[in-house]
Amino acid sequence: MNARIIANTRILGDYFRLVFAAPEMAERAAAGHFTHLRIDRRQDRILRRPFSIHDADRATGEITVVYKVVGHGTTVLSQLVPGDTIDALGPQGRPYTPPADDVLPVAVAGGYGAAAMFMLTRVRPGVLLMGARSAADVILTDRYRDAGYEVRVATNDGSLGEKGFVTDLIPRLLAEHPGEKLFFYGCGPHPMLMALAKLLRDQGLDGELSIDQIMCCGVGACFGCVVKVNAPGSADGWRYARSCSEGPVFPLADVYTE
Ligand SMILES: Cc1cc2nc3c(=O)[nH]c(=O)nc-3n(C[C@H](O)[C@H](O)[C@H](O)COP(=O)(O)OP(=O)(O)OC[C@H]3O[C@@H](n4cnc5c(N)ncnc54)[C@H](O)[C@@H]3O)c2cc1C
Ligand code: FES
Repeated sequence: MNARIIANTRILGDYFRLVFAAPEMAERAAAGHFTHLRIDRRQDRILRRPFSIHDADRATGEITVVYKVVGHGTTVLSQLVPGDTIDALGPQGRPYTPPADDVLPVAVAGGYGAAAMFMLTRVRPGVLLMGARSAADVILTDRYRDAGYEVRVATNDGSLGEKGFVTDLIPRLLAEHPGEKLFFYGCGPHPMLMALAKLLRDQGLDGELSIDQIMCCGVGACFGCVVKVNAPGSADGWRYARSCSEGPVFPLADVYTE
């Protein structure tokens, strides 16, 4: 569907916030869903690009996406202005399960992964563990704080928060919440998600991870986005799953680690 762009502004460095009108999408969107955008401008036709739905406002019918400019599509996207239209499909994919009443939700984000999990804050307060290479990739922490989340940051170069990986923040969090049931949500680069999955398993913890893959059709038809998932009982113990339709969010039990 063609959606009218309401805002498209830089929030930090290469990161932009895009708001467009899509009332039906806003009605159904949940944390972990994505929208598949085709960006047409001045005859410049490119494949669709997937972006997590950062926020959805049912009252105004607006969808918000937060994106980083990394290549051709996102560069063209960053040049769109209010009043332009964009072809937007969604909500697509399998979203996160909202946190149960008896758990403390912990969102573990790498870079733009913080965008994908924001709507979890609508359910109840929790904790955001934000990881990035440097301060230049630490985004949306104020939004999480304003929504009632406690925020802890780790950067690889120590330019903001603790120096190290986002997973390094987990042991202290666990020590501070003895006896409490924590449920982890993850979104970020693949190596981070694999480290997170292993740590959660080692500690006997549970969660759901969004395994983002480069996509083509975005609707389960082309198998261009497959990821390995556990398949107990199969010959190799794993199978390929389509990230766009069976995911992108997978239960920890399904997440395949080498
Ligand atoms: C389910 C899902 C949700 C996503 N949500 C967001 C989001 O909320 N915000 C955001 O900024 N980005 C998000 N992405 C990544 C986003 O789709 C890519 O950055 C975008 O497609 C790049 O398009 P491009 O034409 O600018 O880059 P291209 O010119 O196609 O590629 C530039 C570089 O980006 C890499 N790249 C392309 N696609 C991906 C991808 N899917 N994952 C990792 N690297 C990629 C390429 O390998 C290349 O190195 C998401 C991806 C998926 C699959
Ligand atoms: S992108 Fe075509 S099946 Fe997932």
